[in-house]
Amino acid sequence: MRKSTIVGTGSYAPEKVLTNEDIAKMVDTSDEWIQTRTGVKERRVISKDEATSDIATKAAIRALESARINPSELNLIIVATATPDFFFPSTACIVQHNIGAKNAAAFDLEAACSGFLYSLAIGNSFISAGLYNNILIIGAETFYNFLDWEDRTTCVLFGDGAGAAVLRPTTAENCVIGTYLGADGSGKDNIKLPAGGSRLPASQETVNQKLHYVKMRGKETFKIAVRAMGDAVLTVLEQSKISPDEIDWLIPHQANIRIIRAVANRVSLPMEKVIVNIDRYGNTSAASIPIALDEAVRDERIKEGDIIAMVAFGAGMTWAASVIRW
Ligand code: UT7
Repeated sequence: MRKSTIVGTGSYAPEKVLTNEDIAKMVDTSDEWIQTRTGVKERRVISKDEATSDIATKAAIRALESARINPSELNLIIVATATPDFFFPSTACIVQHNIGAKNAAAFDLEAACSGFLYSLAIGNSFISAGLYNNILIIGAETFYNFLDWEDRTTCVLFGDGAGAAVLRPTTAENCVIGTYLGADGSGKDNIKLPAGGSRLPASQETVNQKLHYVKMRGKETFKIAVRAMGDAVLTVLEQSKISPDEIDWLIPHQANIRIIRAVANRVSLPMEKVIVNIDRYGNTSAASIPIALDEAVRDERIKEGDIIAMVAFGAGMTWAASVIRW
C-alpha cells in the first residue's frame, strides 16, 4: 500500500477581528468570563461580501504555493465544512472553479469540527489505494451568519477561518502513519442547526423561532468531547504503534482551552507540546486544526521528523484522530 504525506499547508482568516469586549457590548458577558471559561480572546469574522468558498480559496492557493503544485495537477478536492455557501452546489466545486483545478473531482464533507481529519483519512485512503496522486483537503467555516448574536452561550465561542493541506504519495518515512474515525449519532441533538433542512424546512415560523442558528448543549458536549478526544488519540497511537511520549506536537481541535488541557492531561503531554491558537481564532470548527498546523509549520515549531498527533471532536457527534511523521 502506498503512503501519503502532507507536502504543503496554507490558511486564511478574515481580516475583521471581533474581541470579547465587542461581544460584551452585544450580550450579557465579559472578557473575563469568556477567557477563563473558553480561552478565547478574539475571533475573526467574515465581512458582508465573504462566504466560505472565498476564504477556502485563499487558504487553498497558499497551500498549493507551499506545495509547489499547479492547480491543474490536482485530482481531488475535499472541503470539510458545516457552513457551506449553499446546500448545493458544493463549496468544493466552487473552490475547484476559483483555483482552476480543471482535472479535479470535488466534494464537500460534513463531519462538523472533525471534518478536516475525516478528509485527511479519506485523502490518505485514495492515495493508498493508488487512485489519486494530488489531493487538496480544506477545512473552512463561516459561523458568523449561523450564530444567534443574542445567545451568549454560543456566540462567544465560534470564529471564521480556513486551512488547507496538499496530500501526495510518498515512499519516505515522513508520512501519515495512522487515522482513526468515530461517530455516535445518539448525541445528534447536542450541537445542531435545527432548521433549513428536510426535517424542518425554512418557514416564517422557523425564522421567528431563530431555528437557523447554532444550538448547543454546552455542558453535555464538553464532557463527551473530553472523553472522546482522549480516547481517539490513545486509539490512533496504539494502532500506529507510537507511544504518547514519542509525540512532539499535539494539535487538538480548538473548542475550549479547558477541553484542550484535559485532553493533554489524559495523554500525559505537557502543554508546551500542545499547539494552541484558540485565543486568537475561537472555535473555527473544521478549520481549527489546519489553521493551527499551518501556523506551526510556517513559524518552524514543527520540524522534519516530528511526530504530530491531531484530534478533533464535533457535532454528530463525530471524532477523529491521526498521527503523522512530518
Ligand atoms: O466544537 C464542537 C464542540 N464544542 C464544544 O466542545 C463546546 C463545549 N462546551 C463548552 O465549551 C462549555 O460548556 C461552554 C463554554 C459552552 C460553557 O461553559 P461552562 O463552564 O460549561 O458554563 P455553563 O454552561 O455551566 O454555565 C455556567 C454559568 C451559567 O450561569 P448560572 O446558571 O451558573 O447562573 C451560564 O448562564 O455561566 C453562564 N454563562 C455565561 N456567563 C457569561 C454561559 N455563557 C456565558 C457567557 N458569559 N458567555
